[in-house]
This record gives sequence, structure tokens and C-alpha cells, in this order.
Amino acid sequence: MQAKSNQWNNNLAFLLAATGSAVGLGNIWGFPYKAGENGGGLFVLLYLFFVIVLGLPVFMAEVFIGKTGKGNPVSAIENLAVKSKSSKSWNLVGYAGILASLIIAGYYAVIAGLVVNYGFIAAAGFGVSDPSTVYAAEVANFWEMTFWFSAFLIASGIVVGYGIDQGIEKAMRILLPMLFVLVILMVGYGAVRGDMASALNYLFSWKADQFNAGTIQAAVGQAFFSLSIGMGTLMAFGSYMPKDQKLGNASVVVVTADTAVALFAGLAIFPLVFFFALDPTAGTELVFKTMTTAFSEMGPLGQFIGPLFYFLLAVAAFSSMISILEPSVVFLSEKFSISRVKATTFVVLFCFLLSLVSVAGFNVWKDISIGALDNPFEAMKYLADDFLLLLVGTGISVFVGWRLENTINSEVTGITNKGLLNLWVVVLKWISPISLLTIWALGNLQILFGISFF
Ligand code: PFF
Repeated sequence: MQAKSNQWNNNLAFLLAATGSAVGLGNIWGFPYKAGENGGGLFVLLYLFFVIVLGLPVFMAEVFIGKTGKGNPVSAIENLAVKSKSSKSWNLVGYAGILASLIIAGYYAVIAGLVVNYGFIAAAGFGVSDPSTVYAAEVANFWEMTFWFSAFLIASGIVVGYGIDQGIEKAMRILLPMLFVLVILMVGYGAVRGDMASALNYLFSWKADQFNAGTIQAAVGQAFFSLSIGMGTLMAFGSYMPKDQKLGNASVVVVTADTAVALFAGLAIFPLVFFFALDPTAGTELVFKTMTTAFSEMGPLGQFIGPLFYFLLAVAAFSSMISILEPSVVFLSEKFSISRVKATTFVVLFCFLLSLVSVAGFNVWKDISIGALDNPFEAMKYLADDFLLLLVGTGISVFVGWRLENTINSEVTGITNKGLLNLWVVVLKWISPISLLTIWALGNLQILFGISFF
């Protein structure tokens, strides 16, 4: 039977698409560099804690809205608001999610473009060039960066334009298995040739002196970003879920896969960083400058492992980029009754403009700081990941916990244990909003104004 275009063909499709969305630059670029910046072990342990305590419940809540509300992120919320006799203004949560997804698309495409560019550089070999000089030259070139991110954006737009079963579902079937094989190969290499003992010690030891609001906010923000929470993607993907699919079980699978890949990425990167006595705290440049130093130190083998690593990153980025575009595409096409292709074109063009601003943050506008944030790229990243995501996550929690409580049952969720179902509701009603808002407020005070309470 031909599937309707607004539904996945089968239960596996949601799992593939949501995992493809979750596993991305956030896992392989973001998680290791944030772990490095925040002292390793403490950040990783906080991250794991928040994935379980806040990430999984809010992930399920977002999918719940999509699955039961149907339609794009805004209309799904509106439908549920009408059903539950709540204010239509809850749709602001959907709008804020779409806004976050667009800002993310704007900077995500730029990093992804840089990754693809690095794949070619690594394949050609670094020769005698110093990786720091190569990096500086690459990011200084506004037009070259623009070329790479545009190519990436257009390729993602083409897949999204094809629709969910012909485009996204088909692409994920190929990309996801490839990604798992590649990441396992990289960990294998790190175990055999790198310093795995130091990497394990670095990633899993508790470092009390790093405990502050900024680290906590970074860990929660990273957990939400990595799980693709708070940007409408999960609502959109949830709304394409077949009726009989249980969202609880599906969510556990996706969250587990995403967390595993983040940890694997750490176990692929840090053994090499320590083996070659490099600095784990390079920030956003870790997978570029630091890793290329490792690849060039490897000699001829580096010319094979290097491109493989960037290919892995590019595959991960591509499957996520598709999912970042989806909420605004489906919103535009439904809201203004325009074709999917037209909506995708508008969204891609808009993201193109945002990406130009983000690229400028690396070169022509690199000295333009916005408050405590170093440049427009950092500002966009902060606004989406650390500011908006936690707010949208709070909105989702409160909406599902307080307004939709009566519609929660074991049939939709697949959770047959009453205690567990109640626990989920308690987390959504109380634990998640209180902790998210507290972390959001303390983190912003520290990062934006330097005010720290502990
Ligand atoms: N979760 C993706 C990653 O870890 O790279 C990023 C992402 C995907 C963000 C989808 C937002 C989104 F809507």
C-alpha cells in the first residue's frame, strides 16, 4: 500500500529519522569539545544524569504533542489547546521552537560546511603545513566558507523537498547504519593506537572544582540539543508516527542510541588527543585544529583516518540538518498552503542569510562581540542552544504535564506500569520546569553577566 506522505511508512522509520536527527554534530563535534571546555568528567556525568532525568521525559513529551496533536509544531499545539480548553497562546511554544530551529540551521550549516571542506583537506594530506595555520586560513576566507555551507544547505534542502517518505526516510536508511559503522571504526582505532586509559580517566572522573552554574547549564543545554529537543523536530516527526507505535519505547531507543554515539565520539577523539599530548580544551576548534594535528602526526595512515573522520561528521551532520529544516518547512507549507518544494526554498534561503551572519562571525565580523558573547556565531549558538531550548523545553513540559494530563495513557505511550506513567507526569509538572528554569536563570546570570552564586 502506498503510504500517505504525512506518515512514516512503518515503525522503524520514526526510529531511524529521530536517531538520525539526534545523532549529529552535537554528538561528535559538540559533546567532546564541551566536555573538554568544562573539565571532562564532571560535565560528562552531569550530561548523563540530565539525559535520563530531564532529557528522556521532555523528549517523550515533545513526541507526544506531535503524535496526538498532528500537523506542524504550531498547529499540533493549537489542536491540543482547543481539545484541552487551554489558551491558543500555547502555540508560542511551537513558534519559539521553530525560531530556535532556524537559528540552529544558520550556524549548523556553517560548521557542517567546514567539516566537508576539511574532509577534502585531510584527503589531500597536510604535508608540512601547520594545522593551526590551515585552520586560520580556512575560517578567514568568507567566500570559501560560504561556498561550502551553501552546498551543504542546498543538498539538505533537496532531500527535505522530496518529502518525508521519499526524501527523509530513504536518506536515513542509508546514512544511519553508515554512521554507526564509522564511529565504531574510529573508537577501535583509538583503542588500538591511542591512549584509551587517559581518555577514560578524563571523561569519567568527577572533578568537583568545575562545579558551577555554567557547567550545569552547558550539560543540560547539550543534552537537549543532542536529543533534538525544543526545536519542533520531534513534534513534526512524532506527528508522522503510525498510530500503533508506542512513543515511550521508541523514545528510549533513540535516547540510548544518541547517548551511546556521544560517548563513542569522546572515546574516538580523546585517545588520540592524549596520545599525541594535545590540548583537550580547544573548544569549537577541537575537531578541526586539534584532530588534524593528530592525523598529521599519524603519518600516511592519517591520510586515511582523517578523511574517514570528517566523512563520519558530515554524514551525522547531514541527517540532522534535514531534520532541522523539517519543522519550518512543514509549518510554512501548511500555514500558507504552498507546496513543500516552495516552502523548502523559502526556508533554505532564509537559513542562507542567517548562515552568512554566522560565517561573518569567523572572519569579517569576528571582533564584533555581543555582550559577553565573542562574535555573531557564538551569539547565535548561545541564543538557540542555551537560551531558547531550555525555555521551549519548559513550555513543552508544562503544557503536557498540566494541560494534557488527562489524555496521557498507556496506549499512546506504551508505558503499562502506572507508577512509571505517574512519575513521568510528576517530572513534567514539577521537576523539569523548576530545574530547567533555575538552571536557565543561573546559567544566564553567570554567562551573560558574570554573576555566580556557587
Ligand atoms: N541533535 C542534533 C545534533 O546533536 O547535532 C542537532 C539538532 C537536530 C538540533 C535537530 C536541532 C534539531 F532540530
